[in-house]
Amino acid sequence: MNETIRNILARRSMRSYEARPVEEEKLAAILECAQFAPSATNRQPWHFTVVLSRAMLDKISAENKKVMLASPDEKVRQRAQDPGYDSFRGAPMAIIVSGAKEAAYAACDCANAVENMAIAATSLGLGSCYLGSFKVAMERPEGAHLLAELGIPEGYVPLYALSIGYGNESLGERAPRKEGTITFIQ
Ligand SMILES: Cc1cc2nc3c(=O)[nH]c(=O)nc-3n(C[C@H](O)[C@H](O)[C@H](O)COP(=O)(O)O)c2cc1C
Repeated sequence: MNETIRNILARRSMRSYEARPVEEEKLAAILECAQFAPSATNRQPWHFTVVLSRAMLDKISAENKKVMLASPDEKVRQRAQDPGYDSFRGAPMAIIVSGAKEAAYAACDCANAVENMAIAATSLGLGSCYLGSFKVAMERPEGAHLLAELGIPEGYVPLYALSIGYGNESLGERAPRKEGTITFIQ
């Protein structure tokens, strides 16, 4: 097995982190990998917001918590009631990936960038967690101020985030993958 395949298979969702920051050169390499993800017609319909401020992540988390506590879904409410609730899983930083609203394949293109970053992070000894639920507050009209504070450009919408940092948990067995998802046509 080569190093690339080893890193793809080693990537795991990390949900507990040390407070120590990610080194600048590692962050630069991760962002370069994001920008070199494939995108439909090479449109590159993404914008990366690198949030190094834990205070900003706490603010987003607190607003998400408020929205989640008002959810009709009991499971969502329960998650938000956890006193340690953090949309960014305790990471020291996160990269929010926003997609251009008018680009047909923005969701795929941005997802490609997130996965590139996650694999790059693994290869650099960092943990990461792909996030979709970090944006519940931003999706509401009352959350528009967060988009402005994050400098998300006009015409772009936050789609995914990746928490990144040095992992602080030893992960057990990998979650099993479904069987029967591959068909060969000979
Ligand atoms: C689009 C997307 C959204 C996700 N959102 C969250 C999230 O909001 N919070 C979280 O803890 N994990 C989130 N995950 C991580 C998945 O739960 C995780 O990838 C899955 O359980 C498989 O585990 P693994 O990443 O360790 O292989 C998300 C993953 C994807 C691809």
